[in-house]
Amino acid sequence: MLLRDRKVIVTGGPTVESIDPVRFISNRSTGKMGKALADEAAVRARETVFIHGPVHESLIDGVEYRTIAIESTEELLEAVKGELAPDAVLVMAAAPADYRPAKKSPVKIKKKKEELVLRLVKNPDILRTVASIRSVNPAYGGVFLAGFAAETNNLEEYALAKLREKDLDMICVNDVGRSDAGFGVNTNIVTVFMRGGERMELPLMSKRDTASRILDCVEEGLTKKTTQLLT
Ligand code: CTP
Repeated sequence: MLLRDRKVIVTGGPTVESIDPVRFISNRSTGKMGKALADEAAVRARETVFIHGPVHESLIDGVEYRTIAIESTEELLEAVKGELAPDAVLVMAAAPADYRPAKKSPVKIKKKKEELVLRLVKNPDILRTVASIRSVNPAYGGVFLAGFAAETNNLEEYALAKLREKDLDMICVNDVGRSDAGFGVNTNIVTVFMRGGERMELPLMSKRDTASRILDCVEEGLTKKTTQLLT
């Protein structure tokens, strides 16, 4: 089954974890890569849904596919699980916050003390959770998982470790330390690693063109996966 027969779930943007009603922890993701992937998926797939954290409203204004707004990583996980289907392709371009405050204060914390220690607890990993649903439930055996790795150093080593440890079908790595790739800019330089060991280095391109090349890789990966499931 190629993308035209598939439901594509794209996630994008950051998640935010509240400390109190006023303050939060988040990261520098703007959702531009996720939005480019959702736009491209909408051209190719049977159905597209874009699940996004807090992003600028102009990013999703007028888009012709379904969008779901979430705030925290736990909400993102629930939304992804709610959309998951046996024919789903999950493209996890979001940058979920890895930790959340152990306690969320219901009232604004006052600045009385000289030091404030914030205890953080680990958030669930969405890709790992979906990979484990896929591994225990044969109906979901055809789900395709594409991850991203935002790195500043040892790009290939970290990307390949994430591909293996999260049981992904492919991973796209980008160097977020560069000024022409990563957060907030309109261009990207991505290398794609496939489960079977193939590697594709994409040149510096617009995020939309990068999205198109990434979805070409998804289509190739889907063809292989379908062949493997049938043999
Ligand atoms: N991801 C996820 N659930 C999380 C965190 C990340 O599914 N709680 C996904 C991201 O959307 C991305 C991939 O995992 O597709 C890798 O994310 P990244 O932030 O690069 O790596 P982490 O797994 O968070 O590890 P680290 O921060 O240690 O690099």
